[in-house]
Amino acid sequence: MKNITVHYSGKSNEGQLVQSEGHEIALFRVDGRYYAIENRCPHRGGYLADGIVRGGQVLCPLHGWGFDLSTGACSTRPGEEVRCYEVHEREGDEVSIVVL
Ligand code: FES
Repeated sequence: MKNITVHYSGKSNEGQLVQSEGHEIALFRVDGRYYAIENRCPHRGGYLADGIVRGGQVLCPLHGWGFDLSTGACSTRPGEEVRCYEVHEREGDEVSIVVL
């Protein structure tokens, strides 16, 4: 198992871009819980870390496709999805993202 350890510096409901070892991840903290998904939208590559969080999903900032933060499933285009990463909360605002 390989982990990326990150200090979360974003505000609640705002994404933080994490780039490490070839991974580009959008990290969110919503209602005290962390979520990590692939940063690039499968439509045209919008940065989901810049998206708006609403109702348990993030809306792509370019054309508004919605992605469930827990599953990565796209609510706008069924069948489309982004990868989800397992996140472990550590001390303070530090989290560990499982990438393999
Ligand atoms: S690039 Fe994300 S919805 Fe178009």
